[in-house]
Amino acid sequence: MSERIAVYPGSFDPIHNGHLDLIERCVPLYDRLVIAVLGNEAKRALFSVDERLEIIRELVCRHHGCVVESFSGLLVDFMDRVGARIVVRGLRAVSDFEYEFQMALMNRRLNPRVETVFMAPKEEYSYLSSRLVKEVFSLGGDLSGLVPEPVLARLRRHFEPAGSRRRSSRRAPAAGKTGAPEG
Ligand code: PNS
Repeated sequence: MSERIAVYPGSFDPIHNGHLDLIERCVPLYDRLVIAVLGNEAKRALFSVDERLEIIRELVCRHHGCVVESFSGLLVDFMDRVGARIVVRGLRAVSDFEYEFQMALMNRRLNPRVETVFMAPKEEYSYLSSRLVKEVFSLGGDLSGLVPEPVLARLRRHFEPAGSRRRSSRRAPAAGKTGAPEG
């Protein structure tokens, strides 16, 4: 029987516990799970692709059959390259549905072999997004239980200029930081 390979694509800027929850749900379902980090985004990212790959690899290396790669261009072309037919996407709320439905249908139109599987994350992560993670951190909010420690460590490095790192969990926004979160 051929290997069941699924691709979980995203920006992952940064990865958070909602993403990780989905990955843990997928691992037992497929022989191989390829976490595909979008490399050529038009929108400005806080973390470089290399940083995102490094963080995610660190977090998922314990999962057998899970690999992390970057891609650019069409997702369906990347899927062909890795021999996958299944795209996994998380659906947090009804508000995600329209965008996800459009993408699923366009991907199937571009490559009829491709099917999209939607998965629901744990309820406690259903409001979580990478955009909110960056915004809340930059304004000094508490992200405990929402992002893994390696992400918190990198957020500190990005938002707190060298030499001014404080022990307090409250942080002031980093003035003039170029990778500031977008609206
Ligand atoms: O986590 P995100 O940012 O919502 O992920 C979006 C992603 C990476 C899945 C999507 O933008 C994508 O697949 N981009 C690759 C380009 C592409 O194939 N575009 C057509 C999609 S229908």
